[in-house]
Amino acid sequence: MKLMTEVVNFLEAGPIKLFINGTWKESNDGATFKSYNPANGRELAEVYEAKESDIDDAVQAASLAFEDGSEWSNLSAIDRANLMFKLADLMERDFEIIAQLETLDNGKPINDVRAADLPNAIENIRYFAGWVTKATGQTIPYSNDFFNYTRHEPVGVVGQIIPWNFPFMMAAWKIAPALATGCTIVLKPAEQTPLSALYMAKLIEESGFPKGVVNIVNGFGKTAGDALVKHPLVNKIAFTGSTQVGKSIMKEAANTMKRVTLELGGKSPNIILPDADLDKAIPGVFFGAVANQGEVCNAGSRVFIPDEIYDEVIEKLVQYAKSLKVGDGLDEQIEMGPLVSERQQEVVTSYVSKGIEEGAKLLVGGEKTDEGYFVSPAVFTDVTDEMTIAKEEIFGPVVVPLRYKTIDEVVKRANASPYGLAAGIWTENLKQAHTLANKLKAGTVWVNTYNITNPAAPFGGFKESGFGREMGSYALENYTEVKNVLISLE
Ligand code: NAI
Ligand code: MG
Repeated sequence: MKLMTEVVNFLEAGPIKLFINGTWKESNDGATFKSYNPANGRELAEVYEAKESDIDDAVQAASLAFEDGSEWSNLSAIDRANLMFKLADLMERDFEIIAQLETLDNGKPINDVRAADLPNAIENIRYFAGWVTKATGQTIPYSNDFFNYTRHEPVGVVGQIIPWNFPFMMAAWKIAPALATGCTIVLKPAEQTPLSALYMAKLIEESGFPKGVVNIVNGFGKTAGDALVKHPLVNKIAFTGSTQVGKSIMKEAANTMKRVTLELGGKSPNIILPDADLDKAIPGVFFGAVANQGEVCNAGSRVFIPDEIYDEVIEKLVQYAKSLKVGDGLDEQIEMGPLVSERQQEVVTSYVSKGIEEGAKLLVGGEKTDEGYFVSPAVFTDVTDEMTIAKEEIFGPVVVPLRYKTIDEVVKRANASPYGLAAGIWTENLKQAHTLANKLKAGTVWVNTYNITNPAAPFGGFKESGFGREMGSYALENYTEVKNVLISLE
């Protein structure tokens, strides 16, 4: 596919600057880092690297923009909503530019970006723009002598730290509810995929948001991310990423009593019941595990299959794995791209080796390429619950099937994980679907579908998959403080 001129110009314009206080700035110490194309390992662009003092600049700007009397705080609800609608319109105008940038930087198939990531991002901005004029507090009955009402006030300056698996969509999920509630933002994208969020910053600038409302600062976790988590003027951290980093953020945030919401890892069960429509269930569980190269927090990475149909299901899963078209995501025929980085390629292939070492049998895939960070889709068999590949998040295209005999047994085993992000059920029996959905400890339960998210519906985890819900009306709570006002009428 030919790259658009706008894309080439964006990449080649010299180190891309930090977006702080409505202007484009070099980092204070001049540091930069590079972004690579995972399909071939080649350098794509150079970007400025934020460290502690740049983060401080961004937080100060966000803090000023939030203050009482600022342009942002003085906007009417409809004007704030209209800025968000404008931003969504600009994302739509530049749809193809963003799609190419996303595929170049992350590796994922451009068809996936066009069909899922980008429409979902745009819908999120519009959905939350709608809330600006609709979110209300309460009036609370007390007695004739008092008037009591609540205000849902923006929490203040929010630090948002996002991962590399859905770079543009994650940025949209994060900024949309924060803008809708009137917060100001310092967003730190993942160091592996800085580009599409920087392009979003261009669109934010063009939309006309007051300066300092959204600051986008690229940098590394241990420096830029950590500085954001520690900064005393940041009121809230919203984080999506690994459970390990999520735990450290939660501990660190206690020092300044920041509000925290965390969307972390998973090892989600995807359960085929004996009566499932296998023509839907088998591709359903396959793509539930390998969609987006398996780099999905809610990947259905434990596939539970009834004993009596186990062999039939496995055989078809292997066929799917063999026929999946893997290659450069810019090729429109491609169904699976490379993993995001050489490191991720190493992590995933070492899990494959560990599976074999611990006695599981690899039926297909799990091979890496010399050029680019590809791993071919893998299907195991003979896996037991105690094996590492059945317990830990792999974050790669690896299907881990597990046999079961009874429904009670599968519920227990499905819930026997420290994670609880999502779960899937495949059945034609409605009663069974409801009963199981009630019993599974997961923030999302999909029945006869998988991986579908909707801006109006909450998404987030139980247990070590984190807490707080993104999207839906629930997400507004992440970004508001409730103030109770009690007035004596005597
Ligand atoms: P990570 O958790 O290290 O990175 C996610 C984000 O957090 C990035 O923006 C990073 O710069 C930032 N970060 C890292 N350390 C930080 C710190 N100490 N303070 C503040 N911010 C920090 O995840 P990584 O290393 O990219 O991937 C490792 C594993 O994490 C993956 O293999 C996967 O299992 C899991 N993961 C889960 C994701 C999810 O969607 N829940 C997304 C990405 C990774
Ligand atoms: Mg990259």
